[in-house]
Amino acid sequence: MKLPLFAILQRTPRVALTLAFVLILLTIVPALYSLLANPILPLSISLSDTDQTPSPVNGPIPAPPDHAPSRHRDSSPNRVPPPENGPIPTPPNHTPLRHRKSSSGQVPSPKNGPIPAPLDHTPSRHRNSSSDQSPSPVNGPIPAPLNHTSLRDQNSSSSVTTSTSRTRIRDDEQRCDLFNGEWVPNEEAPYYTNTTCWAIHEHQNCMKYGRPDTEFLRWRWKPDGCDIPIFDPQEFLEMVRDKAMGFVGDSISRNQVQSLLCLLSRVEYPEDISSSPETDFKVWNYTSYNFTLHAMWSPFLVKSTKPDPTDPKFNLFSLYLDEYDTKWTSQINQLDYLVISSGHWFYRPVIFYENQQISGCQYCALPNTTELPLYYGYKKALRISLQAILENFKGLAILRSFSPQHFEGGAWNEGGDCVRTRPYRRNETIPEGPDLKLRDIQLEEFRAAEEAGRKKKGLRLKLMDTTQAMLMRPDGHPGRYGHEQNAEETLRNDCIHWCLPGPIDTWNDILLEMMKTET
Ligand SMILES: *[C@@H]1O[C@H](CO)[C@@H](O)[C@H](O)[C@H]1NC(C)=O
Ligand SMILES: *[C@@H]1O[C@H](CO)[C@@H](O)[C@H](O)[C@H]1NC(C)=O
Ligand SMILES: *[C@@H]1O[C@H](CO)[C@@H](O)[C@H](O)[C@H]1NC(C)=O
Ligand SMILES: *[C@@H]1O[C@H](CO)[C@@H](O)[C@H](O)[C@H]1NC(C)=O
Ligand SMILES: *[C@@H]1O[C@H](CO)[C@@H](O)[C@H](O)[C@H]1NC(C)=O
Repeated sequence: MKLPLFAILQRTPRVALTLAFVLILLTIVPALYSLLANPILPLSISLSDTDQTPSPVNGPIPAPPDHAPSRHRDSSPNRVPPPENGPIPTPPNHTPLRHRKSSSGQVPSPKNGPIPAPLDHTPSRHRNSSSDQSPSPVNGPIPAPLNHTSLRDQNSSSSVTTSTSRTRIRDDEQRCDLFNGEWVPNEEAPYYTNTTCWAIHEHQNCMKYGRPDTEFLRWRWKPDGCDIPIFDPQEFLEMVRDKAMGFVGDSISRNQVQSLLCLLSRVEYPEDISSSPETDFKVWNYTSYNFTLHAMWSPFLVKSTKPDPTDPKFNLFSLYLDEYDTKWTSQINQLDYLVISSGHWFYRPVIFYENQQISGCQYCALPNTTELPLYYGYKKALRISLQAILENFKGLAILRSFSPQHFEGGAWNEGGDCVRTRPYRRNETIPEGPDLKLRDIQLEEFRAAEEAGRKKKGLRLKLMDTTQAMLMRPDGHPGRYGHEQNAEETLRNDCIHWCLPGPIDTWNDILLEMMKTET
């Protein structure tokens, strides 16, 4: 290929000049574009947010509705939805199910409920990804980006970048910032439903509880400089063959695990090999791939104890800010991949221990106990957790940044709700909410750990900075469709967790993409 080209160049200098000009255009224009694009991004996550954001609450900012701090026992003590750390749904029988393809017989007719069945759109892509045809990253080119012609937003700014920079990206995939972009329509989604996947948690099964709109299912995240392929379960499982992956965190971490179980269910259901019936620590084995998946419950990441009802400080969790939560830190040396995250629980009333002594508290109103600023505990807990990873883990560790909430018209305990049905566009003003400070802390602590981890052989530390993408998805939460509709009482709305299927599936698209660029 090169020879004829050079021959032409030698003969016709004008062609050479034109080529050079085009090359310069190709390199400079995208660079200029990204320079220009960033300042106009309305969603700059500010470093000094607290004073600008009118917090809807005086006291603690929303905690997950399903674990309401007892201090907030307002007029409705019994209305809090049942605890989130309830059992993970299990398949009808416990033996590993091989995915039975095309279950059109199970498709609920639209007459059954108010919801237009999302199943019309189920995996058209699925058909292509059967084992023999799956695109292998090794012997083929980078999986083709989704076809842009089907997208509605032809005039969106991002289409400019993709066309000019596609060649560049192919050479240089790693330079693409996966976390700056926009949601674009994706008519192929969703890739599973509550009838094809048993793993959807009750409170995130939005379609079951009558969510009437389905547009929120049909978007995919499009970084400015490249495309992220939709999660390919076959490719993922090949990649993790004979490996182990763990997720550490709270119910939003589990939300992602369940999304992963559902996305993978198109190929295989795992066998539950958890060592105890305790539902906080689950282990599954994808036996055809000898891949084990661990879900480890640790909402505070550090050692903590639950409120003791016999204690005067009964409504306080105790956090030991300088002690590992050994339930997970003792497990991670057997893992190859680790995804860690946390956040919402740190808004609760807690008492802090350091050096085995009370060092302060948060919303505790105890005599002689220093009330420490919000975020104090978060920073310390994160730091020691990352230290545990630096010490005990060899593999790819991913810190997933804070997952924002979207209560509007009031806080979580004031009747706030999330009723939007579409993502924000980047030309819209996106309310940042009060809790982006948590993401700032994560970034700071991540950078420090990254620096410290450079010396450690085998360890790779990555940030999955999905906060911004998720800020643009006020439409992705269960809202009032996280539970039975009960005319008699007003149950709280969940604007924290994410519907399944839903935008959180994107985290697994991104996870796979990050794993690929790491190998
Ligand atoms: C934002 O952009 C979309 C499409 O690019 C357009 O339809 C919409 O009117 C714009 N909104 C504002 C507030 O400018
Ligand atoms: C799945 O969602 C449909 C509505 O689309 C609902 O009627 C059904 O009860 C749900 N099934 C399960 C098992 O959650
Ligand atoms: C399964 O994977 C583990 C590592 O996670 C490895 O030690 C073991 O040998 C594998 N088993 C088989 C049968 O390949
Ligand atoms: C997972 O299943 C494979 C195949 O049956 C088996 O070889 C492996 O030991 C299992 N892994 C664990 C951790 O039980
Ligand atoms: C609080 O501190 C003051 C002064 O140090 C002391 O006199 C008082 O007994 C303490 N109260 C409690 C409940 O420990």
